[in-house]
Amino acid sequence: MDFVQTVAEAGCNRFTVHARKAWLQGLSPKENRTVPPLRYGDVHRLKQEFPELIVEINGGFTTLTQVQEQLEAVDAVMIGRGAYDNPYLFAEADRSIYGVEFPLAPTRFQVVEAMLPYIEHWLNRGLKLNSITRHMLQLFTGQPGTKRWKRYLSENVCRLGAGIEVVREALAQIPDAGL
Ligand SMILES: Cc1cc2nc3c(=O)[nH]c(=O)nc-3n(C[C@H](O)[C@H](O)[C@H](O)COP(=O)(O)O)c2cc1C
Repeated sequence: MDFVQTVAEAGCNRFTVHARKAWLQGLSPKENRTVPPLRYGDVHRLKQEFPELIVEINGGFTTLTQVQEQLEAVDAVMIGRGAYDNPYLFAEADRSIYGVEFPLAPTRFQVVEAMLPYIEHWLNRGLKLNSITRHMLQLFTGQPGTKRWKRYLSENVCRLGAGIEVVREALAQIPDAGL
């Protein structure tokens, strides 16, 4: 609270708080994201003590249902690893968090199609296919075919001259084109 008070007095009005203590001796940054217990209640209290500040909670959230629950107590929720492990998580957010019905979120297939010109653009400038597709591996998380999508990409992106056809072939591993 002292820290937030001091920084707020200097003009900052928005705070994103990772809801656990970092142990600066003995734990690596990675361990510090899992080992110390989460203390959401402390962040809720911070918002109560400083209602005029925008308080955003962070740490361990993986579903939009959790986000909805948190929004009862704080102004915003930041998701890190949950989004990386399941990037399509945010496709639903416009509707379920912001109430925006249109335009509908693109399907995962449409997301991949939309990535193709972008991938080509960067391949033409010498970037490796894997540098982009590694961030797409989790796009089908929780859906049928996700293992085959990941395996196909992993096994083929490093092929000599691999281009967007590899991404198209990987997409063909997913049985339901409506996803
Ligand atoms: C790969 C990775 C890199 C991160 N780098 C930073 C960083 O540079 N600065 C920072 O303040 N937090 C960093 N974080 C921490 C996140 O901002 C966040 O507080 C943490 O991942 C907990 O939220 P989560 O459970 O939603 O992932 C990083 C997290 C990860 C997974």
